[in-house]
Amino acid sequence: MARTALVTGGSRGIGAAISKRLKEDGYNVAATYAGNDEAAKAFTEETGIKTYKWNVADYDESTAGIARVEEELGPIEVVVANAGITRDVPFHKMTPEQWHEVIDTNLTGVFNTVRPIWPGMRERKFGRVIVISSINGQKGQFAQVNYAATKAGDLGIVKSLAQEGARAGITANAICPGYIATEMVMAVPEKVRESIIAQIPAGRLGEPEEIARCVSFLASDDAGFVNGSTISANGAQFFV
Ligand code: CAA
Repeated sequence: MARTALVTGGSRGIGAAISKRLKEDGYNVAATYAGNDEAAKAFTEETGIKTYKWNVADYDESTAGIARVEEELGPIEVVVANAGITRDVPFHKMTPEQWHEVIDTNLTGVFNTVRPIWPGMRERKFGRVIVISSINGQKGQFAQVNYAATKAGDLGIVKSLAQEGARAGITANAICPGYIATEMVMAVPEKVRESIIAQIPAGRLGEPEEIARCVSFLASDDAGFVNGSTISANGAQFFV
């Protein structure tokens, strides 16, 4: 029987590519989104992938949404915590609101997404937790003290979950995308973006599908012994 996969932030950007790839791989896919109803509707029409609206920063909403997905599609066996936002600003200008918005969505959002799914994975003795971190969690980034903190936090989450889940057949891994051609990167001022591309030895931005292929592998049975790891996909921009 087909496994069910949940992808947060799964109707746009990297998340959309992940949702589509997992569908191609044969999963029942549920993609969540936070606010853009039109984009979600268009995504479902184009792909046939069901979309669900909730705010990953809210634990109760996440729990209720996950229960609905499991009722409609079956137990979630693959969870991809992908939803994330930026509020880029140099630290001396960063407000507590900009700090908390990013922490609540990108970091607490991972807790809110994985925590309600985890007990079922433990009971069924199978699970794949995949967290989409970032190159900027590895190297830091000017104007991203908030974002980099969450993305570095993701790496601590998967290394800890890997130890807790290993005996129950659950793996937890992170992917650190470099700069990928998505709306998030296109929102960076053009001049800054050009200077970023100049720092990428591959000489180009990554494609969302290049991250989706990493997810496809980590979700597969073949990756059962890959646990607590970080896959960097950044065109040789940074090595850990
Ligand atoms: N390193 C060092 N100095 C830098 C710098 C950098 N990377 N970027 C900007 N500066 C300097 C500028 O040269 C300028 O210096 P001067 O004041 O001496 O001229 C100063 O910082 C700009 O400061 P401002 O106060 O004017 O900055 P601002 O409030 O206008 O903010 C910014 C501009 C938000 C930093 C903007 O440049 C920006 O968005 N930068 C991109 C940040 C970035 O890479 N974000 C990643 C987004 S994509 C993503 O997050 C996905 C992923 O996971 C990879």
